[in-house]
Amino acid sequence: MYYLGIDIGSLSCDAVIIDDNEKILAATVIPTGAKNREAISRSTREVINQAGIMEDDIKSTISTGYGRDRVEKRTGAVTEITCHARGIQAHNPDTRLLIDIGGQDSKSILLNAEGRVVDFAMNDKCAAGTGRFLEAMARALQVDIDELGELDHGAKDNLTLSSMCTVFAESEVVSLIADGVNVNEIVNGLNRSIASRTHSLVKRIYPEKNGLAIAMSGGVARNGGVIRALNATMGCSIFIPENPDTIGALGAAIIARERS
Ligand SMILES: Nc1ncnc2c1ncn2[C@@H]1O[C@H](COP(=O)(O)OP(=O)(O)OP(=O)(O)O)[C@@H](O)[C@H]1O
Ligand SMILES: [Mg+2]
Repeated sequence: MYYLGIDIGSLSCDAVIIDDNEKILAATVIPTGAKNREAISRSTREVINQAGIMEDDIKSTISTGYGRDRVEKRTGAVTEITCHARGIQAHNPDTRLLIDIGGQDSKSILLNAEGRVVDFAMNDKCAAGTGRFLEAMARALQVDIDELGELDHGAKDNLTLSSMCTVFAESEVVSLIADGVNVNEIVNGLNRSIASRTHSLVKRIYPEKNGLAIAMSGGVARNGGVIRALNATMGCSIFIPENPDTIGALGAAIIARERS
């Protein structure tokens, strides 16, 4: 039998199908858009097609993410924190601290040796430090979001943005461009401001300095510049799974299997 995990986030709708041995058969990411019911049926169709199975072969479905209650065919719904923790543990069982930066919030999650969540901290009050913040900055810089991650190379590491508010930071970026500041310096400043904000979130649940095995999930883990800034700010080397944006959906699929 097969198990479906579906993560309906603010920006992406992610789906994963696993088998009885927790082998991943298919993993898909599509934009959530304005109509999340449509995104749910499209991503379910796509992941089933990619896996090459029939819908009736799915024994159980767990949904997660902010739109999890919209999944009509769900067997159950589980919070994102639990699902991301379960998903990362399957990739790297040594992980003790997980950073998830998605489209509209960022979280730091502390795990015990069994991979259970022992504490977490979350910023869901504003876009600062989230994927949406980066998307607004990419727009201001007139680059694609997937290019932004490599535009920091060669920067001097000394530009500090005065505001993390998305609206103010966007006008600051526009002024910096007008002043002739190089794009790599601006992007590096943005990445370091995200890293410093994320580090504060981590310190709320883990104030100690001794190294923990840290991993990152969520779409922003695809942004190499943010990862470099996080590694430098936190003095660590963060583990990035192969498909960071589908970690929540993978955790949901694993929970679906465990509960069956
Ligand atoms: N190829 C890429 N390169 C750089 N950044 C990327 C890439 N793909 C996605 N992102 C970033 O990931 C963000 C979306 O992350 P994700 O898909 O985890 O969000 P989400 O789960 O829908 O949001 P949330 O969990 O907050 O509801 C985008 O805003 C963007 O900043
Ligand atoms: Mg998410």
